[in-house]
Amino acid sequence: MSTKKVTKIAVLTSGGDAPGMNAAIRAVVRTSLYHGLEVFGVARGYNGMIEDDIIPMDSKSVANIIQRGGTILKTARSKEFFETEGRQVAYNNLKKRGIDGIVVIGGDGSFKGAQKFSNEFDIPCIGIPGTIDKDIAGSDFTIGFDTAVNTAVEAIDKIRDTADAHDRLFVVEVMGRDAGYIALHSGIATGAENILIPETKTDMNALITALTEKEKRKKLVNLIVVAEGDEFGGGTQVGNFLKDKLPNADIRVCILGHIQRGGSPSCLDRLIASRMGYHAVECLLNGTHNVKTLLIINTNPK
Ligand code: F6P
Repeated sequence: MSTKKVTKIAVLTSGGDAPGMNAAIRAVVRTSLYHGLEVFGVARGYNGMIEDDIIPMDSKSVANIIQRGGTILKTARSKEFFETEGRQVAYNNLKKRGIDGIVVIGGDGSFKGAQKFSNEFDIPCIGIPGTIDKDIAGSDFTIGFDTAVNTAVEAIDKIRDTADAHDRLFVVEVMGRDAGYIALHSGIATGAENILIPETKTDMNALITALTEKEKRKKLVNLIVVAEGDEFGGGTQVGNFLKDKLPNADIRVCILGHIQRGGSPSCLDRLIASRMGYHAVECLLNGTHNVKTLLIINTNPK
């Protein structure tokens, strides 16, 4: 493990974008500059490292971005970085600039890449959890989840209005990859009648029995929130199953999709992104090297 003093830091965003990534980039850049470090931005995740798309960042380069969704550095899921040759080229590009510390803002896949890279080349990497899925083990917070779940809630509330007007059953699919957090949180917050998540096995026959009971009682408006990764399938599969089993019900399926990834970050996402960005640089300066993730953040300052 390296204990060299870090002098030049590179920051990148990797994997699916998440609202608040810009706030994290800003915090990394400004904290680095405050400590007299040189800081570089890498474009399009690990691809930019391999393609040598690495640019110096100054304070002005991160002005007016804290409120913006997406990522000014752009992001990608790099296949080349999974290969040893790709990582070697990436390292050479960092080395020729003297970059000796990396901050990776992304999800689990991005951290796995960082860990491998860090072990191979003895370069300290700090990971900041940035994903709407909230699926980073050991962290209660990931940048983007709060904004995404609020976007989902706003959309589902609107769907509830039209469902109510037409006496319809709506199946709403939300994102989350293999995790059910967006579905669980948005489903509870919108009073969904049922929430289907991959973490628990849904008894589809019990669901049909319950909905048939409701039909008999003339309760025709129902919202079912389904996580895209549910073991039964996503919204389309669930909708088709229900249409088949409940021929009298007026059923619609709505897939919220990438709308959940965009938009201006919430206050919470800006706050945790700023604190994590600051903390990542402090970690590098304090010699906390080769850590896989920046896992826990205390959002209740004493
Ligand atoms: O990981 C974030 C996420 O939005 C998941 O919720 C979703 O499954 C996936 O990315 C979608 O990826 P893409 O934008 O590449 O289709």
